[in-house]
Amino acid sequence: MLGLLRPLLAACLYLLLPSSSHGVPAYSNGFYYQDISSNRNGNGEIYFNGVRLHVESPELSVSATRGSSVTLPCHYRYEPELNAPRRTRVKWSWLPSDAINGLDSEQHISAALITKETDVMVAMGNRHRSYGVFRGRVRLRRSTPGDMSLVINELNANDTGRYRCEVIDGLEDESVTVELEMRGVVFPYFSQTGRYHFNFLAAQQVCEEQDAKLATFEQLFSAWEEGLDWCNAGWLADGTVQYPITSPREGCGGNDLSPGLRSYGQRDRLLDRFDAFCFSASIKGTVYFLKHPSKLNFTEAAQACADEGSHIAKVGQLYAAWRLMGLDRCDAGWLADGSVRYPITSARANCGSLEPGVRNFGFPPQDQKFGVYCYH
Ligand SMILES: *[C@@H]1O[C@H](CO)[C@@H](O)[C@H](O)[C@H]1NC(C)=O
Ligand SMILES: *[C@@H]1O[C@H](CO)[C@@H](O)[C@H](O)[C@H]1NC(C)=O
Repeated sequence: MLGLLRPLLAACLYLLLPSSSHGVPAYSNGFYYQDISSNRNGNGEIYFNGVRLHVESPELSVSATRGSSVTLPCHYRYEPELNAPRRTRVKWSWLPSDAINGLDSEQHISAALITKETDVMVAMGNRHRSYGVFRGRVRLRRSTPGDMSLVINELNANDTGRYRCEVIDGLEDESVTVELEMRGVVFPYFSQTGRYHFNFLAAQQVCEEQDAKLATFEQLFSAWEEGLDWCNAGWLADGTVQYPITSPREGCGGNDLSPGLRSYGQRDRLLDRFDAFCFSASIKGTVYFLKHPSKLNFTEAAQACADEGSHIAKVGQLYAAWRLMGLDRCDAGWLADGSVRYPITSARANCGSLEPGVRNFGFPPQDQKFGVYCYH
């Protein structure tokens, strides 16, 4: 056994020996000059390690609407300032929010940053290249020297996540990250057959059917800050189950607990069943109440929207139109999931409660007659 180990130990010792004999300084005073001959760049300028590269962003989080363009700010500069331009390479990469939400806990995020980031764009001088779902959809703003802000066109709900702007200068490599979120609205969703019927996968699926996604913790938290109060627990994208309470009461965590998000923590994604909190990013199209001479049953309603070249609206679309476009209509209408609802932004008599909101009649029998909301 020892016979086997000895050569191995010798090899390790060799690697541990100080390397001063190879011409590299064995210690550093933090300001060490390289061999002058390797310090000339293409412009004949002599540089040294006292120059620092700064990469900055004035906004660490940007929110945008679906279908629009967005600019993720990023700027670099040298300190002290340099007289001649240097050949700098810029790389934008991306960690999709799905990848962030798929993580079990905070401590895995740094590992995922390295393994799951994908390239968005690489630029050097005037040459640039974009990749994957961003091909042909991104450019650098370049409004001033050093401006490497990323402009993304035709945003879709999948573009959210953490973007890294990395500036690479043979000398140094610095980066900054900018979070991209969609403006949108959180809404609770429950099954036609009643409360607490969705496991995690089903919750993901029903949100998608409503043109939405499972909400993140941050999205539910913002919704709570804006006044969402809902005493039924729902799945979030990270696999936790929570609900938002603004006025504490019995049965919703109790009177003694201060307002906030009530959390059941991580639940069994397969076996445990709850409602869902969905997030609908702002929509590009419009939702409208169909002008029609008579009321309609569910099949007639869907057909009437189709006759107009539209679709019967989904719940997420109605919420987005209500919250982000101020849709206000005191007429109950069918939606694609078979529920009947109407959106109120300025509360008034005979239009439900005294708070703005989307009123919900649940899922009436489909031969009953109502109006209809279409989406185009
Ligand atoms: C977004 O992602 C989902 C699932 O990953 C996919 O089905 C959908 O087509 C994507 N949408 C766009 C606009 O890329
Ligand atoms: C709605 O009414 C049409 C007749 O106009 C009928 O054919 C259809 O079956 C009805 N749908 C439902 C769900 O009752």
